[in-house]
Amino acid sequence: MSRRKKLYEGKAKILYEGPEPGTLVQYFKDDATAFNNQKHAILEGKGVLNNRISEFIMEHLNRMSVPTHFIRRLNMREQLIREVEIIPLEVVVRNVAAGSIAKRFGLEEGEALPRSIVEFYYKSDELGDPMVAEEHITAFNWATTQEIDDMIAMALRVNDIVSGLFAGAGIRLVDFKLEFGRLYDQNDMVRVVLADEISPDSCRLWDLESNEVMDKDRFRRDLGGVTEAYAEVARRLGIMKEAGQGNGMDEAAS
Ligand SMILES: Nc1ncnc2c1ncn2[C@@H]1O[C@H](COP(=O)(O)OP(=O)(O)O)[C@@H](O)[C@H]1O
Ligand SMILES: [Mg+2]
Repeated sequence: MSRRKKLYEGKAKILYEGPEPGTLVQYFKDDATAFNNQKHAILEGKGVLNNRISEFIMEHLNRMSVPTHFIRRLNMREQLIREVEIIPLEVVVRNVAAGSIAKRFGLEEGEALPRSIVEFYYKSDELGDPMVAEEHITAFNWATTQEIDDMIAMALRVNDIVSGLFAGAGIRLVDFKLEFGRLYDQNDMVRVVLADEISPDSCRLWDLESNEVMDKDRFRRDLGGVTEAYAEVARRLGIMKEAGQGNGMDEAAS
């Protein structure tokens, strides 16, 4: 870790120079922040869980031909990724009303939306990530019309795939946030790929039956048991076996 050059330290992750040009190492910290950094805590083991959960989901997406920055996991807290030019937008997909959309439109938390909704927010901590329309995105040159269309199509495809993955684990994917980046190939051709992470930090995940919260809202709302909930998500997805976290299904199978 320290032998590598640190390029960026964010709220939940650190980016180091990768072993080859065009690669980076993404290190998952235990830091949790909410409400634009006003609330902060160290949740021991969170980074390890998010590294594994994000690896699992990104690999599944790669298998389903969704282009992502993910190459491979290196160790408990690090993964090798392709360096991209991050598009400064947070792309949010919502299936069920929760959080800001419930507040903004006076919807009941948990109400199913008439269809999946894709929203864009401008990535700026200083401004509190304001919601933006396509008009702002193209006028300020954050992304082209074609890139917006690509991001919407990929976000909806990711939603279908990841909703299915979680449903199979008895978890409802209420909403989630994606980041995309531009990947340049040898011929300087550019394409949009999925970047950053998909984890309980960036998703709202509710138990399918009890609606129990299994994501970062446990931290935001002081519900406690945050890392325990993340570990349960990992367990239900069938990961973290070799990490020594027993999975009841192992015993049943052996
Ligand atoms: N493949 C990538 N190439 C370059 N930057 C990336 C890539 N994937 C994610 N990032 C950026 O790395 C940072 C990850 O660290 P994080 O702690 O999430 O930062 P932040 O506090 O800015 O959200 C984010 O700024 C994200 O946009
Ligand atoms: Mg981030």
